[in-house]
Amino acid sequence: QSSVLHKFKDILFSTMSSEELLSSMDSFNAREDDVFLVSYPKSGTHWIAKVIENIPNAEITLTSPIELGDISKFEELKMCCKRRVIPTHLSYNMLPVDIKQKQCKVNYIVRNPKDTAVSLFHYYRENPNLPGIESWAAFLELFLRGDVVYGSWFDHILTWEDHKNDENILFIFYEEMKKDPSKSIKKITTFLGINVSEREINQIACKSSFREMKNDAAKENCDANKTICALTSNRSLVFRKGAVGDWINYFTSKQKIVFDELFAERMKHSELARHFEDYS
Ligand code: A3P
Repeated sequence: QSSVLHKFKDILFSTMSSEELLSSMDSFNAREDDVFLVSYPKSGTHWIAKVIENIPNAEITLTSPIELGDISKFEELKMCCKRRVIPTHLSYNMLPVDIKQKQCKVNYIVRNPKDTAVSLFHYYRENPNLPGIESWAAFLELFLRGDVVYGSWFDHILTWEDHKNDENILFIFYEEMKKDPSKSIKKITTFLGINVSEREINQIACKSSFREMKNDAAKENCDANKTICALTSNRSLVFRKGAVGDWINYFTSKQKIVFDELFAERMKHSELARHFEDYS
C-alpha cells in the first residue's frame, strides 16, 4: 500500500486520520444537539454542508471531520460554542458510542454506487492525498473489493441501512436532491427543526447549486479549518461534474455486468438499493 493510506481495523484510511485518533473514537463526548453529516466519500457531502451553512439563523458551526487529525481533535471540537455540524465518512460501527447513546441527529447522504465509483476514481487521480492509480479498470477492481479509502461502499451503506428507521437519522439521496433540490432542502431543514420560508429555500438552492459552488471553490484559498472532506482541504478538487449517470461514460458492458452482479448479491435485502434502480 502507498504511504498516504494506512489500514485500521482492516479498512483503509488517510494518514491524515491518525491511528491514535481512530482508536479513541469512543472517548468522544457528544452533545445532544450535535448534528452529524455522514457519507461514503464522493456522495455529496460538500453539497449538504453548503445547504446547512446557508440556512438563515441556523446558529451552527460546521467543523472539520471527526476522524481528521490526531488525538487533539476532541479538544478542538470542545472549543466550539455553537451547535456543531460534524462531517464524517465513518461506518456506523466505527461511530463514537456517545453519538449513539445521545441519539444525535445524523444526516446520511447516499449516491448511486456507479457514479460514486467514477467520482472516487477521479479523486484518486487528482488528489495528492490519495494513491496514484493506473487506469479506470484497475480502480474499479479495487472499488469492488473494498480496497479503497473508507473500505467497501456496500459495507458502509449496509451498516447505516440497519438504522434507516431510527428517528434521529435522515437519509438524503443525491439523485433525488439533484432532481428537486428544494424538496431535499426542505427535508433537511425540517429534520434540523429550523423554520424556513419558501423564498429562503429557493435562496439556499441557488447558493448550493453545482455551478455556484464550483465557481466559489475556484476563488477560495485552501483553509485547513474549513475542511469538510477528510481527504483534502483543497476544495477546488471536489467539484468535478456534479452529474447523475456519468458512469455510462466509464463502464464497459462487461464491467456493468460484474458490478450489477455484485450489487444484486450484496444488496439483496436492501431497501435503500431500490432507490438506485433508475440509475443503473
Ligand atoms: P463528481 O466527481 O461526480 O462531480 P463529496 O462532497 O462527498 O466529496 O462528493 C463530491 C461529489 O459531489 C462530486 O461529484 C461533486 O462534483 C459533487 N457535488 C458537489 N457539490 C454538488 C452540487 N452542488 N450539486 C451536485 N453535485 C455536487
